[in-house]
Amino acid sequence: MNDTTSLLSYLATRRSGKPRQLVAPGPSPAQLDAILTIAARTPDHGKLAPWRFVVIDTENRPEFAQMLDKAYRRERPDAGRLEHEAVAAFAHQAPCLIVILSAPDTTSHIPLWEQQLSCGAATMNLLHAAHAHGFAGSWITGWAAYNDEVASALGARGDDRIAGFVFIGTLPDSPEERLRPALGDVMRHWSPEA
Ligand SMILES: Cc1cc2nc3c(=O)[nH]c(=O)nc-3n(C[C@H](O)[C@H](O)[C@H](O)COP(=O)(O)O)c2cc1C
Repeated sequence: MNDTTSLLSYLATRRSGKPRQLVAPGPSPAQLDAILTIAARTPDHGKLAPWRFVVIDTENRPEFAQMLDKAYRRERPDAGRLEHEAVAAFAHQAPCLIVILSAPDTTSHIPLWEQQLSCGAATMNLLHAAHAHGFAGSWITGWAAYNDEVASALGARGDDRIAGFVFIGTLPDSPEERLRPALGDVMRHWSPEA
């Protein structure tokens, strides 16, 4: 297989892994730097780099879990034990966790929407880079992505928002394929009469 064939084959078959199924090894510090460098190589109108990658290092996972749990208690004061266990499980899953913040420059003339699109593109590039390094990744949001206390604890300011939590690790088994849209349902050729 030449480089082009294998790249096309990768793009045609790439699949996320479920975060709870991702085990060691995760990326080494050098691999993570390489992955994030690729993530930052993303279309970006105005060269604003309107995204930030917040790495939650392994030694800080317990404090990260505590921070999430505190925010969850305030958001859902009536939550039971199982919900708190789920929050802890979320915080500790997979060997590597990166939070992607959409961090738009609101003084710029570049529309907010375009800056947020660039953040989505950077997150997808991050996933591609992780997979290309032989790992599996997963981009998820959930309640924590919409909680202001969590965003602020992660360094979000002003119009910054959490674009997602990307978990990276190794998937013991190949993931099952999921249903994909039929091309005809999501594309059409424009015609001036329509
Ligand atoms: C912005 C965003 C947020 C997501 N949040 C969640 C989530 O909270 N929970 C979940 O199970 N999947 C979530 N997903 C979907 C997962 O990433 C899902 O596993 C993905 O669709 C798999 O796609 P793939 O097979 O192309 O890799 C989210 C996807 C995106 C783009």
